[in-house]
Amino acid sequence: MTGKFPAVRPRRLRAAPWVRRLVRETTLTAADLVQPLFVVEGSGIERPIPALPGVDHLSIDRLIETAKKVRDLGIPAVALFPVIAAELKTADGRLAVAADGLVPRAVRAIKAAVPEIGIICDVALDPYTDHGHDGLIIDGKIANDATVEVLVRQALVLAEAGCDVVAPSDMMDGRIGAIRTALEQAGHTDTMILSYAVKYASVFYGPFRAAVGSASALGVKGKHTYQMDAANRQEALREVALDVAEGADLVMVKPGMPYLDVIADVRAAVSVPVFAYQVSGEYAMLTSAAAAGAFDFLSALQESLIAFKRAGASGILTYGALAMARYLADPQRRADEISHGR
Ligand code: PBG
Repeated sequence: MTGKFPAVRPRRLRAAPWVRRLVRETTLTAADLVQPLFVVEGSGIERPIPALPGVDHLSIDRLIETAKKVRDLGIPAVALFPVIAAELKTADGRLAVAADGLVPRAVRAIKAAVPEIGIICDVALDPYTDHGHDGLIIDGKIANDATVEVLVRQALVLAEAGCDVVAPSDMMDGRIGAIRTALEQAGHTDTMILSYAVKYASVFYGPFRAAVGSASALGVKGKHTYQMDAANRQEALREVALDVAEGADLVMVKPGMPYLDVIADVRAAVSVPVFAYQVSGEYAMLTSAAAAGAFDFLSALQESLIAFKRAGASGILTYGALAMARYLADPQRRADEISHGR
């Protein structure tokens, strides 16, 4: 049964702010967001990252202040990424498994000062390796199984420090199962695994690699032997099915906005919550375009994040989480929304 004009006039449901609000299919709240944070050694450091306007390198003391803002604005969790000095990076990325490493210390500090928020920690070697890859290189190749052994140790160190969610972002095969087994054996039965199950080999990670200093060493080789081919859609479902079977509690699609079709596919295919990452290059596109006068930054950010929700994302990692949460909490914005619109 399809109605016809003029009996059917879809614009009736758009005629006033109150009815638009009533029929709105998707909502965006601070509770949907995760704030990624970059942590550095030292104290009193709050150093802007040129490639990511509005995002800073934070020493642990400043990280705690930011974590309090995250809590106060109703953002449920942060995702931590370490920035390691170049001279401390090694071919085997051994600092990734140090029990008193930068991230474990950051986790303990946040847990002590701001216990209300969740902490998600990346499991991958790239911030720690001098070559910038996520895995160990043996005979000129990324060695899957040897890397998984190190990732397991990294995940255990993070869980031990009190990290709530370990998030393997490395794309090695079999790592979810191996990490899950090790966590169970060590008694970390409540530690969640957020698998970066569907992670594409993407140029949109550029500003992140600049921020953690993993780009320069990567050279022209890229991560195409482990991250997914941007042309593939079916393969996403295969990766997700494997990771859920291996014990992932949550799965992620990354990048986000160029891959909304994949988010929707994954949402339809599995019953675990699906997260998505609005990655550094996506965020930088929004800040650059706004700076060039193309649009208002916060309006564009909001529209982009609603698109993630519409596609089926439950949680969204975005560098704009704090800015968005502030915007959503602003009574002036609500007043504008209600009075606008002819
Ligand atoms: C690395 C990792 C990357 C990101 C998150 N974890 C970069 C990469 O794979 O090279 C990218 C995040 C972003 O671009 O915002 N394991």
